[in-house]
Amino acid sequence: MSTVLKVSNLEVDFLAQGTVVNTPLRGIYIEIASGQTLGIVGETGCGKTLTATSIMGLLPSSAVQRGIIEFAEHGQVSVADMAELRGSEISMIFQNPQSAFNPIFTIGAQLHMVAQRRKIARDEIDQLLLARLHSVGLNDATRVLNSYPHELSGGMLQRCMIAMALIATPKLLIADEPTTALDATIGHQVLALIRTLQQREGFAMLFISHDVSAVAKVSDVMAVVYAGRVVESGPTAHVMSNPQHPYTKGLLGAIPNAKKPRGQLVAIAGNVPSSLKDVVGCSFADRCALADAQCSTEPPLVHIGEAVVACAKVRA
Ligand SMILES: Nc1ncnc2c1ncn2[C@@H]1O[C@H](COP(=O)(O)OP(=O)(O)OP(=O)(O)O)[C@@H](O)[C@H]1O
Ligand code: SF4
Ligand SMILES: [Mg+2]
Repeated sequence: MSTVLKVSNLEVDFLAQGTVVNTPLRGIYIEIASGQTLGIVGETGCGKTLTATSIMGLLPSSAVQRGIIEFAEHGQVSVADMAELRGSEISMIFQNPQSAFNPIFTIGAQLHMVAQRRKIARDEIDQLLLARLHSVGLNDATRVLNSYPHELSGGMLQRCMIAMALIATPKLLIADEPTTALDATIGHQVLALIRTLQQREGFAMLFISHDVSAVAKVSDVMAVVYAGRVVESGPTAHVMSNPQHPYTKGLLGAIPNAKKPRGQLVAIAGNVPSSLKDVVGCSFADRCALADAQCSTEPPLVHIGEAVVACAKVRA
């Protein structure tokens, strides 16, 4: 399998009047092979969306990004290169489909604008859009094309956004919490649809969620992010069955299931450190029962089989 995306030591600072005021990404490492899904999981504010927007070259001008991004056969790419590849080789779907569409244009007009970038004849575009909408389960495609965003349900709009993202047949689809805004049944249907499309079309996927069960369901490999750093990564089955990092163990301890009634769920006490503060040593130390003096320096990356863990107490 060839590598589609490799991100090494990605860091992001936000500046105000030339001074760093916020360092929300402090070391993101991820690698996705063709056709594979990598799931990123972590609590709110840990840097999941920023990771995606950095990769897409979409950070605001107040941000400074460091690290190496390699993409498919292009090798190492700059922020400007990623902006160029956006919408052709890389597409993204978001949590809130309403924000992806302009309320004053029909869905058809908006999909047309995206399809025109492929420089194909107008009648071929019409055929392409109808086929795309059918492929995402919207059988009444003509009506959908003539509708304004507010005339469609959240689930239908989410399917339209997936159709829009896949018009370009991208090598990589980034899905940022694609089901969080939907009710559970529609969310399951949308997840199943994305999986089916991926198997049919072979794109790689970066799937972002705060829900570790959703990540476990859809991803082949996963990265657990805490306070802007990947603290554990590896094949999903391996991480889920044999978590090593105390934070990963905490996340898994908080998953409800049939054998674990609510009363037995273990919440992780404390809060994620603010990205406004300098973090010295392990960023999980304030919440970790195993923390001691050894954790006051940046934890090493320890390789355990195919997994990588950032913890001073984990032994290979
Ligand atoms: N435009 C911005 N300016 C300054 N800081 C920002 C900006 N966008 C994000 N941040 C900082 O980056 C941190 C991470 O934000 P991000 O949106 O990536 O979190 P997330 O993991 O996607 O959270 P959620 O699960 O709530 O979507 C935020 O807590 C905030 O401190
Ligand atoms: S490095 Fe120390 S504080 Fe951090 S997770 Fe490991 S044991 Fe806990
Ligand atoms: Mg987010």
